[in-house]
Amino acid sequence: MGVRVSLSNLASAVANEGGIGTISSIGLGDVETLKNDYEGQSREALVREIQRAKGMTDGHIAVNFMGVLSNVEDLIVASVNEGVRMIVFGAGLPTRLPALVEEGSANLVPIISSARVGKLILRMWDRRYSRIPDGLILEGPLAGGHLGFSYDQLKQPEMYSLEILLPQVLETIEPYEDKFGRKIPVIVAGGIYDGKDIAHMLSIGASGVQMGTRFVCTVECDVSEEFKQAYLDSEEEDIVITKSPVGMPGRAIRNKFIKDLEADAKSKIKCFYRCLTVCDIKTAKYCIALALINAWRGDVDQGLIFCGQNAYRVREIVTVKEIISELIAGIEAA
Ligand SMILES: Cc1cc2nc3c(=O)[nH]c(=O)nc-3n(C[C@H](O)[C@H](O)[C@H](O)COP(=O)(O)O)c2cc1C
Repeated sequence: MGVRVSLSNLASAVANEGGIGTISSIGLGDVETLKNDYEGQSREALVREIQRAKGMTDGHIAVNFMGVLSNVEDLIVASVNEGVRMIVFGAGLPTRLPALVEEGSANLVPIISSARVGKLILRMWDRRYSRIPDGLILEGPLAGGHLGFSYDQLKQPEMYSLEILLPQVLETIEPYEDKFGRKIPVIVAGGIYDGKDIAHMLSIGASGVQMGTRFVCTVECDVSEEFKQAYLDSEEEDIVITKSPVGMPGRAIRNKFIKDLEADAKSKIKCFYRCLTVCDIKTAKYCIALALINAWRGDVDQGLIFCGQNAYRVREIVTVKEIISELIAGIEAA
């Protein structure tokens, strides 16, 4: 979870409980000084987080990358050099990912929102690199942050539910699993809240689940208390879809920042470092890096608070250990 929501603290706590803890690679440099050396500073900050996480756990750590980041390739290479064994890649097509990461050095796990995109990646990787992904994350329309669906599609999420998308993805990957003689695990994400949900997803063919929202309100989560409190205070009707300068819809809590945007306020953008290839500062209504960093540091009125559709169900701050024990008990009961 970016920006800075899941860093070494949360990721290592999840890894210590037997999960795969994911560090978000985006927006890590010091905002005040980034203009001096954006690429170098972002890389150093990410390497620091990876090393911190590894110092806190012997478990599994992944790093998440957004394809639209201007320095994404540099960050991926740096992570693999630090010994990260799972590279998760979303928000953009991973056309060059296999060229950057030698086979066997790290697992490559693209995020997809449809069987169509899954097929595109499989076909391209097979033709260009004679490789297949080591796993896929299928993210449905109830997830938090940026979403791989159109605004119209998000108005009828039931048509794109994981129950509908997963069988399509499983069917699409089958010929490639046969050709390469190995399974491509599909990890589903978006709206998965309790052990019963996980058991259900496993029963319909998922190999695992990725969860975000529930882990925001944990003691270990790296985000400000104000951000966590916004989740605790939210009601179902406060969770909305908003337009992001990344060019994708995003799900967030409707706070002062979003209300100002709805009133058509455009903030003055000073951009020194072009973190996103797709952001046009002439038309962007705000700087998304700054808005997400504001939320992370607790200035929630000036910040964008990304959340999943189920954020309103979270009612207390607990430890990662408590959530994972509850999830396991729920899976067993189901
Ligand atoms: C605060 C927040 C930030 C997120 N940031 C990212 C991100 O930077 N990259 C990404 O691939 N997914 C991001 N996501 C999506 C999550 O990784 C996850 O797939 C999704 O939220 C799962 O749905 P859930 O929140 O209902 O569990 C974010 C989600 C949240 C809640």
